[in-house]
Amino acid sequence: MVPLPLIERAQGIYLWDEHGNRYIDASSGPVVSNIGHGNERVAEAMARQARTMDFAYSRLARHRPNIKLSERIARLAGPGFERVSLTSGGSEAMEISIKFLRQHALATGQPRRRRIITCQPSYHGGTIAMLGLSGDETLHPFLDDFTISSEKVPAPFTYRVPDNHTPETYARHCAAALDEKITELGPENVLAFAVEPVGGLATGCMVLSDEYVRSVREICSRHGVFLVFDEILCGTGRTGRFLAAHHWPDALPDLVVMAKGLGSGYTPLGAVLMPAALVDELAQRTGFNFSHTYNANPISCATALAVLDEYDAGDLVRAAEARGKQIRDALLAQRGELSVLGDVRGLGLVMAVEMVAEQAARQPLPAAFEATERVRVHGLDNGLMLYSRRTAGGKYGDWFMLAPPLTISEAECEELVARLCATLKALAAEFRAGPW
Ligand SMILES: Cc1ncc(COP(=O)(O)O)c(C=O)c1O
Repeated sequence: MVPLPLIERAQGIYLWDEHGNRYIDASSGPVVSNIGHGNERVAEAMARQARTMDFAYSRLARHRPNIKLSERIARLAGPGFERVSLTSGGSEAMEISIKFLRQHALATGQPRRRRIITCQPSYHGGTIAMLGLSGDETLHPFLDDFTISSEKVPAPFTYRVPDNHTPETYARHCAAALDEKITELGPENVLAFAVEPVGGLATGCMVLSDEYVRSVREICSRHGVFLVFDEILCGTGRTGRFLAAHHWPDALPDLVVMAKGLGSGYTPLGAVLMPAALVDELAQRTGFNFSHTYNANPISCATALAVLDEYDAGDLVRAAEARGKQIRDALLAQRGELSVLGDVRGLGLVMAVEMVAEQAARQPLPAAFEATERVRVHGLDNGLMLYSRRTAGGKYGDWFMLAPPLTISEAECEELVARLCATLKALAAEFRAGPW
């Protein structure tokens, strides 16, 4: 069992437990705390909003924090994402994005468009419907005949590809699989393809290749299928751009869904980014008929505005790129001494470390070793809080997230890497020593 420390205090990149032990928040919880902990200016903005106007229901009234935040996100997201719908978290934002597209299909006379395609593996949220969209074979006993699963196409992994493939040919194969799946289902029946441009724990931060993104954009456009980027984890600057989608400006998705870093842990918040043309068309025809009580909660909106001020003040999007490179380079430089270090992948400050039994052969660690749990124990022993859990039963590999707050300094990165190397050496020693 991995201990669950009782955390009593948090400041910057650090967390302290009840015994005074200090941990670096090396994954920002589950990739949430982008601006770091204990920010007084954000706390003050939250309190100010609570005193001024704590709540107004989005179906009955408009309010300025919502208008300001929506405009600010749209400005940062740029052309193609002029409209923003604010939710209470990631899963809810994914739900809203799909419901929006479905209602748009109905309003524009395409009632058969109801099938969704996603990748195997993938993660799109924890509601029953979003678990159905997520690609995790171990969920079958729970989900089968209980919710409607999406159609799955293979995720374009790059580190470990089938024997007859290179990463490039495999990406082409995976894009072709999407084309075939849409054709097989009948394009008139397909609503959307949803994909994480940079994955989280489901894929160990798999980054879509340029060619793959351009191909799936072309395929979706050709078939009239909406392309949705699930940037719940990787959006809000983590990758070194405000949106991960900005890495492929000539192949933008139709919708982007974001959450986590937008509230940075100070408040639960998510957002769906949409083009004005689609939203205005639906507004004219039927309007959008779905909502949740806390959509665009005023205190959450004020919090996110203060969070975005911190991004500006600290130039955090640019910092993500620089600090990510620093950590990756430092880790890879020590690869020779870290026998379990397989791959370090990701973009900017959203990375995963894949752990292996043997580097050259990229051989996974045995399932019985439970590397995703053990690495957390060694992390805690070495003053690191790491986010990992086994996904898809370890079928695709074992990894943990490496995604500290974007506010991490150069010196703190060095401390993180030193602690991580000690963690990985302890893990390797335990593996070699056996029995486990
Ligand atoms: C890619 C992705 N999609 C969806 C979700 C669900 O978001 P939430 O946990 O805020 O509901 C997550 C959360 O980890 C995620 O990483």
